[in-house]
Amino acid sequence: MRALVLAGHSVQVVATDAALRFVGRPTLEAISRNPVHTELYEGVAEVRHVAIGQAADLIVVAPATANFLAKLTAGMADDLLGNTILASRAPLLLAPAMHTEMWQNAATVSNVATLRSRGVHFVGPASGQLTGADSGPGRMSEPDEIAAAALALVGATQDLAGRHVVVTAGGTREPLDPVRFIGNRSSGKQGVALALAAAARGAQVTLIGANLEVDAPPHVTVVPVMTALELSSAVTDAAASADLVVMAAAVADYRPDAVASAKIKKETQGDELVLRLVKNPDILQALSAARLPGQVIVGFAAETETDRDRLLQLGRAKIERKGCDYLVLNTVGWTEGFATDGNAVVVLDRSGHIVGETTGSKASVADSILDSVVRALGAGVRA
Ligand code: C5P
Repeated sequence: MRALVLAGHSVQVVATDAALRFVGRPTLEAISRNPVHTELYEGVAEVRHVAIGQAADLIVVAPATANFLAKLTAGMADDLLGNTILASRAPLLLAPAMHTEMWQNAATVSNVATLRSRGVHFVGPASGQLTGADSGPGRMSEPDEIAAAALALVGATQDLAGRHVVVTAGGTREPLDPVRFIGNRSSGKQGVALALAAAARGAQVTLIGANLEVDAPPHVTVVPVMTALELSSAVTDAAASADLVVMAAAVADYRPDAVASAKIKKETQGDELVLRLVKNPDILQALSAARLPGQVIVGFAAETETDRDRLLQLGRAKIERKGCDYLVLNTVGWTEGFATDGNAVVVLDRSGHIVGETTGSKASVADSILDSVVRALGAGVRA
């Protein structure tokens, strides 16, 4: 459950009475982050006995007992689990767990053969220590193995497994006084979608969140920051062990050179207020210059230029200046790019070639950006 949740999937638990004798409902709810379903005659108005199975992309039964295999072979639906499975067209993955004698019993052997012939998938059982003093075939496969089999069945690529990915997201705020700041309109949606997509592909993700307006995924490490200088220090720390750094945050180029300790008052300022701004460090440029061997660094360029050729020209000059490996180029305006659910991007490599181009939801754009950059990853910076 935890591995699937960490990979960004929504997990619904259907627990049998027997399951609840082994694991308490609060544990299942805390780990799956959803209410646990147990009763056939609950939620009848929403036709729950079939709705859960119909909505599922994959059903995993772990552990699958000898009794469960027999019931499934017979097509029985006397509980919520049986109903859920019969009402679903999703792939079904079973992780058997039982004593060796039960696994090798002619009835179980025949049931497994029947279920396999119907297209049911199995992971394990492994051979090893069983519940009592005995050991042998029948031990449930390790959770990581079950999760890997589950993810493979839904076609989830795990091309970032074992990698540390750092994503910056949101927009920095540069304070003028205790209540005001200079900021920008970045919501953080695209960066959060990238963090989620990287986690779903198996990465350990650190999300440096600058004033995010959207919820961060529950299973990534979030480092909240406010200003460009805070973001610089957080991303520099995280980059020390990162295979891939994606700088999706909109970082302020300038900050007020002094922050007033008390609220600036119009009564004392008069008709004009002059702000003096100083340049922030270019974090992307510094990270690229200090890049670890094998590390891949991706920058973003949000531009208001609408002419495609001129936009590409700006992008090519920017990647040259910044020294990063890839640059994700998108146009922003009063209505485009910010806080919207869709995006359109072009990905350039260091030589200025277009290596990817996508329009779609921020989730699909995130996946396509990762498709473009993942091939450049070397052996791994922590190898
Ligand atoms: O130069 P420009 O602001 O267009 O560059 C955008 C890219 O550079 C983004 O990836 C952004 O995160 C990064 N950036 C930075 N430090 C700054 C300004 C922008 O790392 N001070």
